[in-house]
Parts: sequence; C-alpha cells; structure tokens
Amino acid sequence: MKNSLGKLDELPRVALAHLPTPVEAMGNLAAALGRNGGLYVKRDDCTGLAFGGNKVRQLEFYLGEARAEGADTVLITGAVQSNFVRCAAAGAARLGMDCHVQLEERVPGKSGEYRTSGNVLLDRMLGATIYSYAEGEDEEGADRRVREIADELKAAGRKPYVVPLSPGHKPLGALGYVDAAREILGQIEDEGIRMDEIVVASGSGSTHAGLLFGLRALGSDIRVTGVCVRRDAAIQKQRIADRCRDIAELLEVDPVVGDDDVIAMDDFLAPGYGRLNDAALRALDMAARREALILDPVYTAKTMAATIQRAQEAGPDHGIMFLHTGGTPGAFAYSESLTAELGRLRAANKPGSVHA
Ligand SMILES: Cc1ncc(COP(=O)(O)O)c(C=O)c1O
Repeated sequence: MKNSLGKLDELPRVALAHLPTPVEAMGNLAAALGRNGGLYVKRDDCTGLAFGGNKVRQLEFYLGEARAEGADTVLITGAVQSNFVRCAAAGAARLGMDCHVQLEERVPGKSGEYRTSGNVLLDRMLGATIYSYAEGEDEEGADRRVREIADELKAAGRKPYVVPLSPGHKPLGALGYVDAAREILGQIEDEGIRMDEIVVASGSGSTHAGLLFGLRALGSDIRVTGVCVRRDAAIQKQRIADRCRDIAELLEVDPVVGDDDVIAMDDFLAPGYGRLNDAALRALDMAARREALILDPVYTAKTMAATIQRAQEAGPDHGIMFLHTGGTPGAFAYSESLTAELGRLRAANKPGSVHA
C-alpha cells in the first residue's frame, strides 16, 4: 500500500490533527430521504485544532515544511472568514511561531459580525497580526502581497514561511487528503461499509484533488464528487486535474487520475462564494435537525445540498459519504442572516402554510 503513495510518508509533517476522525452513519437523514441507510459522514470537522476542519490535515504538511526550514513566522492569505487562515494561526501558535494573516474582501456587502465574529475573532484570540486586501478575486495578487510582507519581515531578521493559495505551488495541502484517503479506505474496510461515492467541497481544490488522487493511487474506484463553492465546474475541473498531476510529480508516482475521472458539480454555487441559496439553507437545516451536524454557509451547506441530491438520484444500494470539512466558526459570522433565513424557511414549511 505504501509504495503506491510514493514519498508521502517521507515528507516533513507535524502532528496537529486528531486522527483518525470518525465515520458515522446518517440514519435519520437517510430515512428522511426515503432510503434504508447507506449515508455516512466523515467527521473532519472533528480534527481538533482550534475548532478543526479539513485545513488542519493540510497544514500538517505546510507547517512540517516550515519547521524543517527553521521558520519562525507563518504568513497566509484568505477570505475574511477563512478557516484556513484561522487554522494556520492556530498551528503557528502550537508550534511557537508568529502568524501574519491577510484577509481578502471576497464577499460583497458584509459588515458587522462578518468582520468581527467567527473566524476573525479566533484569528485575534490566537494572536495573529491581521492585514486587509481589498481585491477578493485576485488570487495571485493576494499571494504576491503576502510575499512582499514576508520580504519585509525577512529584512527585519525574521524567518518567514508563506502558505500559498494560488495554483503553481507544491501541492503540500493536498497530501493531507491523500493520507485521508488511506484512512477512509481502512475505516470502510474495517467497518464493512459499502462506499460508492464521496461528496466533498471543492474550493482551492486541495481536499478534492488529494482525496481523488489518494483513492486512485490505492486502487479504489470510489466516485469523488467535488462541489464547487467558488468557481464554475469547467474551471474547477481543470484546476483539479492539474492539481492531481502536481501531486503525482511531488510524490514521484504515476499520474493515476485521468481528466475524465474529475467530477465537479456547480449546481449549488449560485449566487456565489460565501452566499447561501435555498437548497443549501434546507440542507443546513436538515443536517442540524436530523443529525445534529452543524454546517457552515460557505462550504459544507452547499456540499450537503449536493449530497442530498446525489442520494435522491442514486439507487438505494449506492453508499454515499459526505465529507464534513468543518468551517463551523463561520456560522457565527452569519448569525443574523441565518436566523432570519431559517425563520423564513421554517415558517414556509409549517403545516397549513401557503408555501408548505
Ligand atoms: C470548511 C471548509 N470546507 C472546504 C473547503 C475547501 O477546501 P479546499 O480549499 O481544499 O478545496 C474549505 C476551504 O477553505 C473550508 O474552509
């Protein structure tokens, strides 16, 4: 098994996540959808570090490299409510490093709690130095600005390490999910679970690409459905295919993922990054009330909407796993709009309501 993952276990890594995360059945949700089981959740919201999430697995490899290089300061850029930024600040704190974070204006029209609560509050509590970047859709520009800050720190005698966001860099974050593929395959084998498909949020693509690559490298043909949260399906598919080739190169193994094997679904992307739609709101509501799973409006609610759609489309024996990538602090940054929208949804669904 190990050889097919090439150099995975030789690369620098620090232990930050609580692993393995649980796999749980979502029996109530399955029943609500008229299925006799076959729905599961991989609880990567439970990776532990400062509210956890998928980014903790990814940071084990980035911060492993940072430590190997003798860095004393970590820099990262992301959305104002970025979970990656929050987890980087937490990882840096754990490793005794400083953290400088740049928050990009990606979601229009947000103020108040969006700027102070959720992940931003945690960034502050974790001691990160915060910068702002006005242009939300300029991934390369944001990375460039972070590198300039890193240069300034270097000139002042620090040893900075930049966690990059745009493509064209070593896919260290994806390795966390190559490793997760190995973990999942072990769990479904041990527990005798039939698994045909995993549904996962696809943003920067590290989780989607790493998981898909890991499964194929280990000989599994489980379908991986990537749920677009930022870019449309055509752009995202290309990004994931490229990322899979980068992973093969880094691990020095064959490029086991063909372009046709990359599935990106953008049915739930509208009205755009960080903005809810009705299907995602209904999914968030169902997950909370049926399974006590807390989802976030940006990533996991849309991914659960896609999971529900796939469960309704697929046959009764088709085993589906929802990868819960965390993001739960983000829900608090949307508390006003979520309260209003959930109220509207529940009122419309009340028996006797004209909308029911
Ligand atoms: C909670 C959550 N889920 C999913 C994703 C998407 O993961 P990736 O960037 O690896 O595609 C992110 C990215 O920030 C996230 O914070």
